[in-house]
This record gives sequence, C-alpha cells and structure tokens, in this order.
Amino acid sequence: MSTNRDLKTSSPLLRSTASLAAEQLEIGDVARQLSLSERAVAWLQDINRAVELRGPILPDDVEAEQLLTQLDVEPGDRADTLAARPDPHHHPALWWVLDRIYRHTVDSMGAVVPIEGHAGWPALPARTGAVGRHLAVWAYLAVLPEVRRYHSVRGIPDEASWASLVLGDAMGAHRAVTGQSGLGLFDGLWGAPLQLRGALYRRLGRLDYNRGAISFSDGPCGYTIGVHIPGGAPLDSAACEESFNAAREFFPRHFPEEPIALFHCSSWLLDPQLADYLPASSNIVQFQRHFQILPLAPGDEEAARCERVKEYFFGGSGNTPDLDELPQDTTLQRAYVAHRRSGRYWHTRTGWRPF
Ligand SMILES: CC(C)(COP(=O)(O)OP(=O)(O)OC[C@H]1O[C@@H](n2cnc3c(N)ncnc32)[C@H](O)[C@@H]1OP(=O)(O)O)[C@@H](O)C(=O)NCCC(=O)NCCS
Repeated sequence: MSTNRDLKTSSPLLRSTASLAAEQLEIGDVARQLSLSERAVAWLQDINRAVELRGPILPDDVEAEQLLTQLDVEPGDRADTLAARPDPHHHPALWWVLDRIYRHTVDSMGAVVPIEGHAGWPALPARTGAVGRHLAVWAYLAVLPEVRRYHSVRGIPDEASWASLVLGDAMGAHRAVTGQSGLGLFDGLWGAPLQLRGALYRRLGRLDYNRGAISFSDGPCGYTIGVHIPGGAPLDSAACEESFNAAREFFPRHFPEEPIALFHCSSWLLDPQLADYLPASSNIVQFQRHFQILPLAPGDEEAARCERVKEYFFGGSGNTPDLDELPQDTTLQRAYVAHRRSGRYWHTRTGWRPF
C-alpha cells in the first residue's frame, strides 16, 4: 500500500511516468484487470475523457483529513479513506478509472440533470478492495476545489456551499448497508456526483434540490427543481413549506438564466396508496398534499413488482421475501405487509407543484 509520504517523496518525473502507465491502459485492460461489470464498462465508455483537462491531483493526508471532517465524514470512515489512497504507480487500473471520473465531472461542472435522468457512478467489484471502495471518495476530494470555485462564481455563500457538499451521510449509508467504509459498492451512486458538479443543493432547510432540465420533442424548454427528502428527521409539513420557500429564493438568485417552471419529486412517499393506511395527520400524507401526483405511466406497474421501495420501509431488515418475517414495528411497516397480502404493490410516483 502506498502512503502519502511515498507520493510526496517520489519525484515529479517518477509520478508522471506512473500516470503515463495508467494512461496507456485501454478500457479493455482496465475492465479485465478490475473485473468490471458490463454497466461499469458501458458507463466508462460513455463519459467524455475531456483530454484538455489535467488529471486529478489528490490532497495530501493532512488536507484530506481536514476536508473529510468538513464534509461531515465520521472519524472511522476518514481513517479508512486515508488508508486507502489510490496511487497511479501501484494501482494503474483504478487510477485510470479515477482519472476518467475526475475529468468527466470537471468537464460537466454546472450541468443540470437532463430530462432522461442521471445514471450515477457504477459500483466497483468488491475484489478491488479498500482502494476500490474509496476511489469515489478520492475522486470527490480531487474535484472538490473545482466545485468550490464554481459555487463561488455563482455567488453561493460558503456555508451553503459546504452544506451542499456533505459526504458523511452517503458514507454512513454505505457502511450501514455493506458493513464497510467507502462508497464503491453502491451501484448507481447518485447524489454525490450531482453535488460534485454543482447540480444538487443540500440542506436548504428540510429538503434537498437538484437543477433539472425540462424538454419536449423539440428540445430543452425550461427548468425544473427536483425535490429530495433526506431521512434523519420527521418530515414536518411547515418545515417543508419553509424549505420550498428557501429554494424559491436560492435558485433564481444563483442561476438567474434558468427560468424555473416547477418543482417535481419522484418518490415512494408520493404513492397515494399510503393514505389508505396512514392517518391524515401523518407527515407523509401531509407531504403528498404539496404535490399534484401524475398518473401511473406505462411500465410503472411492472417496475413496482421489483419492490425496490421495500428498503425504505424496512432498511436492512427487509431482505426476506417472507411477509411473516418482516418487522411490524410501525404503522408504515404494518401497511406494507397488509398491502402486499392483498396482492397489491407499492409504487414510486412522481408529483409536481408550481415553482
Ligand atoms: C420521510 C420520513 C422522514 C417520514 O417519516 P415521518 O415524518 O415519521 O412520517 P409519518 O409521520 O408520516 O410516519 C407515519 C408512520 O410511519 C412510520 N414511518 C415513517 N417512515 C418510516 C420508515 N422509513 N420506515 C418505517 N416506518 C416509518 C412512522 O414511524 C409512523 O408510524 P407510527 O405512528 O406507528 O410510529 C421517513 O420515512 C424517512 O426518514 N425516510 C427516509 C428518507 C426517504 O425515504 N427519502 C425519500 C427517498 S425517495
């Protein structure tokens, strides 16, 4: 394992030779060496390499520790990240991936989420070990100065900038789900890449928001603000309304050239079937009232059968297909089971409200 000292004491010539070794790899070599999934290969093939940009420069250990602290990363996850520093000489294939992520993210700085959505960073196989699991974290640290510059150009105050860049919750979720530090076992890592390119803004009060494009068949025709609901606190209705108002102030101020038509939200929380089980006073039912819910689209029923929303009801304890074994601690969990027993499924639904 290379250390920060290795990097600091290695000569620039040695370092550039090492980067060159990574550079000379082709995607086929990288895919073979790392046993990348088809999805990861397709994703890497699709992204621009942005050759005119210089490659990533990682902060040294002292700076990395400070930055991770600023990003709300827990001490254990900070230590594991520092112990898993990627190095172009020792990990040329992983460095190749890091280099692509870095250049692509910097190249797309400021880009809104297109109407067709955003694929997220692919998982790296567990066999890439601790360095593979933390590669996305190091990519994040490498891009950080660029997004901070972008926020500053947009006039976003320091406090709001750092609040938007937190990484501790994503790393905490990775540890909770996989039992290991990092981000790399999550497939389709969604939020962190959008934070990093200045498209997702966190903690505007209770809710998080992303800038998104609206387009019809003849091309882009305006903007929408995507609404995201972080866990960790009740979904208090007044706090949500306050947050919508904060977003109404924030986006036109910092992105005045993007005329916003609406807020939209796609979530399991917007399934109207929830109101059949939860009291009208529940926060989830109150939250639904903020939105007009769109009708189910073709394919939604089929998607619901994959039961991807189940994890929101049960977290890690929902892995069993046996309804009798699921926890029944809350009204929501009891609703899940009763609904499935009646042969029906839960849906992700999309809602909108005027901006
Ligand atoms: C969104 C969230 C904060 C709502 O929680 P809340 O404010 O307590 O919601 P409600 O008041 O409507 O809760 C109604 C009932 O459902 C339960 N409940 C709510 N969310 C629950 C969850 N994720 N898992 C299990 N039970 C839940 C509550 O405990 C309550 O049951 P009880 O009266 O028996 O205690 C919560 O679901 C959460 O943290 N979710 C994770 C984030 C998320 O899902 N984001 C959207 C991603 S698309």
